Amino acid sequence: MSTEQHNETPRGRGRLVSLEPRRRAANRLEEHLVSLLAPHSADAERYRMLRNDVETFRKNDNLQVLAVTSPLAGDGKTTTAINLAASLAQSTAARVLLADVDLRRPSVARQVGLDGSRHSLVDALVGPGLTLEDMVEQLPQFNLSVLQAGEAADTTYELLKSSRLKELVDEARRRYDYIVLDTPPFVPVPDGRLITKCADGVLVVLAANRTPRGALAEALSLIDPAKIVGLVFNGDDSPTSSSYYGGYVASPPRPWWRHLWRSS
Ligand SMILES: Nc1ncnc2c1ncn2[C@@H]1O[C@H](COP(=O)(O)OP(=O)(O)OP(=O)(O)O)[C@@H](O)[C@H]1O
Ligand SMILES: [Mg+2]
Repeated sequence: MSTEQHNETPRGRGRLVSLEPRRRAANRLEEHLVSLLAPHSADAERYRMLRNDVETFRKNDNLQVLAVTSPLAGDGKTTTAINLAASLAQSTAARVLLADVDLRRPSVARQVGLDGSRHSLVDALVGPGLTLEDMVEQLPQFNLSVLQAGEAADTTYELLKSSRLKELVDEARRRYDYIVLDTPPFVPVPDGRLITKCADGVLVVLAANRTPRGALAEALSLIDPAKIVGLVFNGDDSPTSSSYYGGYVASPPRPWWRHLWRSS
């Protein structure tokens, strides 16, 4: 990726950021919350760079709800969503909600060590009486609120298609400064298309050296280009990954990702 390729996206300049493979940590919480538990680590600094961009989008473009997605399963969406939300929450003034909207393979609650005793997003999608207050859990010791997905008995598509999801996101907009949505993979299942309708921006995670180009191209053809705020190379341990590099064009209908790949 050439550092010269800087162009304007509809909401400003898009970004490409690389994240090194996570280091092994003593326990699960440490491993996933480097942004809080190891705030001086190189990994935490990378997420802080991402945070800085999101804060800028918030200020300049009023971006408040950010969906984290990827083309395929296992690319690193949840890892990125947790660490980005935790990084944003390092500002004590920021009210940050991390919401697990992956109803097919929910993992946020498990990864942050919540026991699932509170009401979940699924509970609220099937029953109209619940408010965010009934569901959201504060991560102990941290300034981070978490909404767990829960177990979907119904088809997830029907649940997400209802107007209830938008109502809940709108309620979250009134209560929080930043809402980070962890989502299912974009290509194999349709859920992401519904979820991103409620988001102001979409962050696309790629597993470095693993996500196929075709899958990325397909995902990008399905996501509203005006909403894409950046790409994250997760697990990139190349020498150039120690710093931010590159920007990209997101001016539809130009197939801007081809430029990205041609120069990589
Ligand atoms: N940068 C990384 N370094 C090392 N391991 C990672 C990294 N990112 C993710 N992993 C590991 O890869 C696996 C998948 O990561 P994660 O759950 O974040 O992906 P996902 O895209 O959310 O997956 P799914 O599509 O199943 O929801 C997990 O076991 C996670 O611990
Ligand atoms: Mg996940």
